[in-house]
Amino acid sequence: MRVRTGINGLDELIEGGFPERSTILLSGTPGTGKTIFCLQYIYGGLQMGENGIYITLEEKPEELRREAERFSWDLKRYEDQNRLVILDASARAGLPPTEKHFLEDTDIESFLNKVYNLTSEIQAKRLVLDSLPPLFEREENIRSEIYKIGRILSEIGCTSIIVSETSDENKFSRFGVEEFIARGLITLHLEEIESRLKVRECRRSIFIRKMRETKHKVRRYPFSIGENGINIDVKGELL
Ligand SMILES: Nc1ncnc2c1ncn2[C@@H]1O[C@H](COP(=O)(O)OP(=O)(O)O)[C@@H](O)[C@H]1O
Ligand SMILES: [Mg+2]
Repeated sequence: MRVRTGINGLDELIEGGFPERSTILLSGTPGTGKTIFCLQYIYGGLQMGENGIYITLEEKPEELRREAERFSWDLKRYEDQNRLVILDASARAGLPPTEKHFLEDTDIESFLNKVYNLTSEIQAKRLVLDSLPPLFEREENIRSEIYKIGRILSEIGCTSIIVSETSDENKFSRFGVEEFIARGLITLHLEEIESRLKVRECRRSIFIRKMRETKHKVRRYPFSIGENGINIDVKGELL
């Protein structure tokens, strides 16, 4: 079974969508479009009748709602229907929580517990963890903790995206272990190119590096971010 991603163009590159109940790692440097990708995935699911949970560690839920609004994705409406939970794990010590669902600095176990409960409460089918690195600011056993997350995610039964922000274009995970718990690995890129007219410009692209159970091309495809979110140019293969 395939889970349609809601990302324009992506499904036809991966046999119709992500393998059901798999965990996909999405990585890229800052500003490459990871959060927009995840919002589009969650929103696409809601429109198809699949409930979702968005765990945000970097941005405030309010910021996500506003960003989504720019693409006419009304998250609040689904939150009010209890079909979407935005779990605010962005809390920094000292600030009072303003969200219904929030999590302050805590250990991985209680974090996973909360996620597990919320997911079964709304019977979520899609899960986003945006992003992984802040979870491990004070963590020492990163490797085993990441494996723990992988086990819980596969038990929860959602089709999940884990975001890993990288500082280096050539790396696809921060800790070098995330890729082992993921059945798929997608990287987003933003690079400067010189156009034919010798003008320097930036180009966005997406690369499906690994997708188990799937015949896919190992190529970069250009994409743009427009009024409806991410649009992949599936004919525009790049090397
Ligand atoms: N409404 C929009 N229309 C077009 N492009 C946008 C819009 N909002 C953000 N962007 C682009 O997307 C980038 C942010 O994407 P985001 O998904 O937040 O990146 P990441 O999570 O990878 O850091 C911005 O820097 C901007 O270039
Ligand atoms: Mg982001």
